[in-house]
Amino acid sequence: MTSYTLRSASPAKTRTDAVVVGVLQTPKGATIAPGGEDVAKAYGRKLSPLLSTLGVTGKAGEVVKVPTHGTLTSSLLVLVGLGKTATTSDVRRAAGTAARAVTNAASVSLALPADTPELVRAVIEGYQLGAYTYTAYKHDSKTDATDPGDVVVLAADARKKEYVAAFTDAQVLVKAVTGTRDWVNCPPGDLTPPKFADAVSAAAKELTKGRGAPKVTVKVIDEKELAELGCGGILGVGAGSDAPPRLVEITYAPKGATKHLALVGKGITFDSGGLTIKPAQGMQEMKSDMGGAAAVVQATFAIAELGLPIKVTCYAPMAENMVSGSATRPGDVLRMYGGKTVEVLNTDAEGRLVLADALVRATEAKPDVILDVATLTGHMVIALGDRVAGVMGSQEIVDGVLAAAASSGEDHWPMPIPEQMSERITSSKVADLAQHDWIRWGGGLFAGAFLREFTAGLPWAHLDIAGPAFNSGSPWGHVTSGGTGFAVATLVDYARSLAE
Ligand code: BES
Ligand code: ZN
Ligand code: MN
Repeated sequence: MTSYTLRSASPAKTRTDAVVVGVLQTPKGATIAPGGEDVAKAYGRKLSPLLSTLGVTGKAGEVVKVPTHGTLTSSLLVLVGLGKTATTSDVRRAAGTAARAVTNAASVSLALPADTPELVRAVIEGYQLGAYTYTAYKHDSKTDATDPGDVVVLAADARKKEYVAAFTDAQVLVKAVTGTRDWVNCPPGDLTPPKFADAVSAAAKELTKGRGAPKVTVKVIDEKELAELGCGGILGVGAGSDAPPRLVEITYAPKGATKHLALVGKGITFDSGGLTIKPAQGMQEMKSDMGGAAAVVQATFAIAELGLPIKVTCYAPMAENMVSGSATRPGDVLRMYGGKTVEVLNTDAEGRLVLADALVRATEAKPDVILDVATLTGHMVIALGDRVAGVMGSQEIVDGVLAAAASSGEDHWPMPIPEQMSERITSSKVADLAQHDWIRWGGGLFAGAFLREFTAGLPWAHLDIAGPAFNSGSPWGHVTSGGTGFAVATLVDYARSLAE
């Protein structure tokens, strides 16, 4: 078992197997970043020629390992690039890169820039998230897991209250992000809607046991009750699957809370496209189509564990989008919770259908803000790439999300809902709304306009995380391959700002 501690000590004298130091990219060449001063001093004038011989530049993603031969107490020095600016985000990413470079060390000191609480947070988040592996299905999980060793985060002000708080709060966030990754990485046959709902209930039970634990209640609405409520979107999408749909509703309502945040997340446990079936290649990645639901659930748990003084209600509609004789057809009309009718024109645009029911449920308690999170459209991936989420909705809420994104180290970008979309979403000849119109242009914005119809005019923002929720490539920084846990950090920081 790994232990993480926060200490103020000299990195040159620390008794760990390895010590990690940051390197800045400057016009004069690579230089040791703040936090590593004592290491630089211990090497003295020998350091600069050593760095240039090794070809160290300090660019982001760079890792160089140097045996110390008695120069430092640790036998291994690990140099990680921080780039030119060394922002909090750069530090988080560098810590993640470092974590994967020292998997054989039993103990590691991190002497990265840590002279603000925000930087301490970035170091611990980056390292723990960068070390993440998913080994649940590996036969010999011990040999495949990276053991991060005993990790000591070095910060001069380690004893100050705000530093200790940043350090412990960061670990709550890490638990929520890795919990999200675990659910996204789980094979879809083992995380059908009923199993996903059970996993959420089990996680809530774990969270709320013991004295002083937060109060969080979970309600699981099954297919029978969904029919009684008239949740036609969730039922319509789930109609083709042998595994019935669910709607999970979570409440955290601490005493004295004055603000109320509603979180809604898309929980398609597998998206085959339905009768409008997807191409074969890459379909396996559609196990990640519940990444929004996983993120809002885990963010709710983290907010509760942090004891933030706001009320949170969380809605996670869960369905499996499959092909069968009972599947919803293009041309079918669904009646959403609350009564609006929707003509289905493309069964692969299923996310907006399950979200419609859940959004209307969310509006009923009249929250101050609604945020929905969804792996909604490939259009957003084409527009922004696979590391950036698109955010649309009420201007003030979008601005708040972007501010939270900046402190959390996630990349979100504002997108418009153009006036023209209002015409497009009402183009159905038989129902109130058209779910799709077979025009490719601006498909992600069409989806935003469609969702807005179900928000009752309340302050709202929609986060399309289709790109960043899943990393199909190699690890980079603290972002490992597979499920990334994207949006959890931004949601928690948004909740923090609402609590202030
Ligand atoms: N789950 C997909 C969106 C997606 C695409 C997520 C790529 C992650 C990576 C969604 O349900 C979908 O199929 N969207 C369609 C919408 C279209 C039919 C309007 C799409 O993007 O093609
Ligand atoms: Zn989908
Ligand atoms: Mn789809």
